[in-house]
Amino acid sequence: MNIKDIAKLCGVSPSTVSKILHNKDEDISALTRKKVLEVIKEYQYVPYSKVINSMAPKTNIIGVLLSDSTYGVQDILYRIEAAAIENGYSIMLCNTAGDKDKEEKYYQIMKNKGVDGIISVCQAGELPEDMKIPAVQILDKKSRTGKNKAADIYFDMRDVGYLAANYLLEKGHNKIACLLEAGDEEIMAGYLKAYKERFVSPNKEWIFLGTEEDIISIGISKCLNEDITAVICANAEIGNVVYEKIRERGDIVPDKISVISVRDSSFAEKSYPKMTAVHVSALKVGNAAVNALIQIMEGRKPVYECREKIEPDICERNSVMVPTGHEQGGKIVVVGSMNMDCMINVSHIPTGGETVRSRNIISLPGGKGANQAVGAGKLGGLVYMIGRLGNDSDGKEIYNSLVNSGVKTDGVVFDDAIPTGKAYINVAADGESTIVIYPGANEKLDRSQVRQYEQLLDDAKYCLLTLEISEETVEYTIQKCKKKKVKVILKPSSVEKMKESLFENIDYFVPNEKEVKQLIPEAATIEEKADILVKKGVKNVIITLGHKGCYLKNDHYEGYFPAADFHPVDTTGAADAFISALAVSLSEGNGILRAIGFATYAAGISVARQGVQPAMVDRRGLSLYKEEIDSFCGKNTLKNTK
Ligand code: RIB
Repeated sequence: MNIKDIAKLCGVSPSTVSKILHNKDEDISALTRKKVLEVIKEYQYVPYSKVINSMAPKTNIIGVLLSDSTYGVQDILYRIEAAAIENGYSIMLCNTAGDKDKEEKYYQIMKNKGVDGIISVCQAGELPEDMKIPAVQILDKKSRTGKNKAADIYFDMRDVGYLAANYLLEKGHNKIACLLEAGDEEIMAGYLKAYKERFVSPNKEWIFLGTEEDIISIGISKCLNEDITAVICANAEIGNVVYEKIRERGDIVPDKISVISVRDSSFAEKSYPKMTAVHVSALKVGNAAVNALIQIMEGRKPVYECREKIEPDICERNSVMVPTGHEQGGKIVVVGSMNMDCMINVSHIPTGGETVRSRNIISLPGGKGANQAVGAGKLGGLVYMIGRLGNDSDGKEIYNSLVNSGVKTDGVVFDDAIPTGKAYINVAADGESTIVIYPGANEKLDRSQVRQYEQLLDDAKYCLLTLEISEETVEYTIQKCKKKKVKVILKPSSVEKMKESLFENIDYFVPNEKEVKQLIPEAATIEEKADILVKKGVKNVIITLGHKGCYLKNDHYEGYFPAADFHPVDTTGAADAFISALAVSLSEGNGILRAIGFATYAAGISVARQGVQPAMVDRRGLSLYKEEIDSFCGKNTLKNTK
């Protein structure tokens, strides 16, 4: 902005403005003077001479232009501010409230103030042509102009719609209503694309595009008249009205109808049930914008190289369920150990030099891998086992236990040269236990056996692994899973160290308190240890804490879940029961929170019974606790970590 611009805005000549600025305005009327000074004040204009003389070349101020009507803008702003401060900048905030004129005025004001760079968040207008200040625009894809005046951090609303619809379709919903606001056409296109990929079209009656008032007064009732099983909403506020209407009909969310919002907010978190939503991470957006701006301001990258797309993801909460009748889940493959367990009941666990008398000894099929397979099989999962047994009576007994629990044994090999693995387990009167293992045939479960049966992983959803087999075999299997897009659930056991490269390919890492202490000795608390694991690349860390429940940490959440209230008789197989139920629930398309509820009750029931495989609950037994599991989903200390 210069004197000419001010003169134009005031309808006077540039020399008039100059005279007023230099106090040589005796011949200028009071009215004109007043008008010019008002405009100068409004635009916070600083004459160039003063800029040169008084201002340091760098102010360390980033100007942020935002519109308070933009969704999630507050979270983005907090992140921009934090990232700016982390890098030694402060911010100057200008709220345009979506007004184009205000936007132009603020650009000038920021320029006059000498900001080092500008971040514009979802503004209606384009950056001014003459703007010479480094700038980054946060945009949705539709608003991108292709001109390289500023770097873009952008997200695609079509991806958002696609993700929401695809998430529901994958769970088995096919009648999905879509209630969107005018302007959400890109989201709608994503929704239609997800259907198109399956060669079907949604019924027109399920789709409503209008104002928020129209959605509430017409759209919701219209789509609820149809026989739909899920609703996609423009935001959590509309989602809450959908909740109310569903309840007025006497139905339950999500048992009868699932609900998902295409925009995440604290309102989704506060709803009951907490609403699952598509989430564009404010953390990622804010960090990316500040980083790009700093790169440009410091001349480290040209504008055209500072362009980043932020991918949305699903923040799973409790408002989406697999529709009734679709419970048969995806395939689960267990690659793991199988032992004959010699269970020795004692009053207490003997310590060094102590001899205790057992009141009861019994042999039962066990081994972490076989236990998990049996647990998942009993719960109705589609389970395949890859493992190695000795060609002996123990091996045959374990094999029968797998078959009787519905486990497919295609990948089980009988080894003539080595006996079946064994575990010697002391079970104390309080249910606590200690285990000594003789690996036997488990040691021969190597990469060549996994390669021989790798086609079992082809269409699998989850692969369960434990470190009771060799780390090399585990590593090889994880690589196969990565290639075949199979999610890995890993339980570490009897190891003090794990190869660093393994962590980034683990989707669910389920150690107990002792195991995590051994693996991450450097951190003091459970929370810190979990945090380190997430930073190493684990997607979900679930630390099982015995009677204290479990702790979850992932990109979205961190917090504790209580244990189910059962009297412990034998806790030996609790973790195996937990993991098998977790896998079954996830494989049926449930979110992590519901899956933890399911797993917590399966583990609780198993500790109230003697042994491991015989103690695993079947589907019918677990469904007796459906109400408890439903209400369990709300019993946690979860905080958002977005
Ligand atoms: O997790 C319990 C199992 O650990 C036992 O069945 C035993 O065989 C050991 O592998």
